[in-house]
Amino acid sequence: MIRVTDVDVAYGDLQVLWDVSLEVRADDGVVALVGPNGAGKSTLLRAISGLVPVADGRIELFGEDAAALRPDEIVRRGFVQVPEERHLFDGMTVRENLRMGAYTRTDDPTATLRDVYDVFPVLEERATQAAGTLSGGEQQMLAIGRALMADPTVLALDELSVGLAPQLARRTFDTIADLSEELTVVLVEQHVDEALSMADRGYVLENGRIAASGTGEELLASDRVRSAYLG
Ligand SMILES: Nc1ncnc2c1ncn2[C@@H]1O[C@H](COP(=O)(O)OP(=O)(O)OP(=O)(O)O)[C@@H](O)[C@H]1O
Ligand SMILES: [Mg+2]
Repeated sequence: MIRVTDVDVAYGDLQVLWDVSLEVRADDGVVALVGPNGAGKSTLLRAISGLVPVADGRIELFGEDAAALRPDEIVRRGFVQVPEERHLFDGMTVRENLRMGAYTRTDDPTATLRDVYDVFPVLEERATQAAGTLSGGEQQMLAIGRALMADPTVLALDELSVGLAPQLARRTFDTIADLSEELTVVLVEQHVDEALSMADRGYVLENGRIAASGTGEELLASDRVRSAYLG
């Protein structure tokens, strides 16, 4: 579904991705992307979303060259991202935020809204509350819910568990596991053990390069990952 081949990305003169290749297949449940701060994980998601230009290499999305697609067209094709910064509309209600998530759709999103409320009942309880007044955990659910409103085929989640209490982070991983039954999740995570345990495949990004890849199981067992990320 997604094939990233030898991609370089730079911010001005500063190159941050070198020769990155990665694949997301239709039968993948979870594809994990892990690595230290500043490795380029978010940049790679931004490149796939069409939010930063690719300097060299190629990104193929559902059989099309991503370079020819605008960000909203990429969402419409089925690649939807929950960015690290969330970008919720604080002054708008929960329901309005969810409706905004469906802006690229031409069909009726009402059934999807029902599904989102089924996954996150608290969002229905808080439907008329301003998003900015939600708790951290609720805002995170809203961010996922809003992305689901776009009816993704591939849902990319950038460091969703950051700042959440351990119990809430645990519940987030359970939700991700449930979602991965219906769609493919690209999971960027600092909780490397959690992410790789649920991943069909994983990639380790270090200093802008793919340092290791394999099945989640292989990476969890590798000396490189164990010593660098699992203490
Ligand atoms: N808009 C930008 N302009 C210039 N440099 C940037 C920009 N965004 C990111 N960078 C730089 O690109 C590099 C990769 O950043 P990126 O956010 O992709 O890393 P990351 O792996 O997501 O890190 P983290 O785990 O901290 O979120 C970093 O050195 C960062 O400072
Ligand atoms: Mg990041």
